[in-house]
Amino acid sequence: MTTIALTVNGQPTTVTAPPMKRLLDVLREDLHLTGAKEGCGEGECGSCSVLMNGELVNSCLVPILQAEGAQITTIEGVANQEKLHPIQQCFLEHGGAQCGICTPGMILATHHLLDKYPQPTLAQIKEGLAGNLCRCTGYMRIFEAVQQAANVEPPEPRT
Ligand code: FES
Ligand code: FES
Repeated sequence: MTTIALTVNGQPTTVTAPPMKRLLDVLREDLHLTGAKEGCGEGECGSCSVLMNGELVNSCLVPILQAEGAQITTIEGVANQEKLHPIQQCFLEHGGAQCGICTPGMILATHHLLDKYPQPTLAQIKEGLAGNLCRCTGYMRIFEAVQQAANVEPPEPRT
């Protein structure tokens, strides 16, 4: 077992866990943040995506040891308390979420994309979401949601 200090959604925290325990499992089991989902468990689907030091990572591939001192943002850290983030609202309005398994990862990937390209082209949207698979929507609704989100002024600076 090892004790790791990290910051999750702005809250400094420590966890004691086996060093190779996956960040995904630490978030879900130890910190009770169940927004990140396990799809493939192999780094292929993006449903477990979180932001780690501002980069989009597949949390199923990150041993907790690697997260020492890291700043982690999960989907729970995106919404402002009870109010949906504009990206979430756009997904809701465009039917960009159906079963919802991919949705937390899609929202975080969109967040990351819009930080990089505030007015992304369709090609940039497709590239930015290329690591996130969706079995339900056929992607067009998701792309439309991202395009709308790019035109909505965020309520606070995106992290
Ligand atoms: S569960 Fe992590 S990439 Fe699929
Ligand atoms: S909404 Fe079901 S996998 Fe995307």
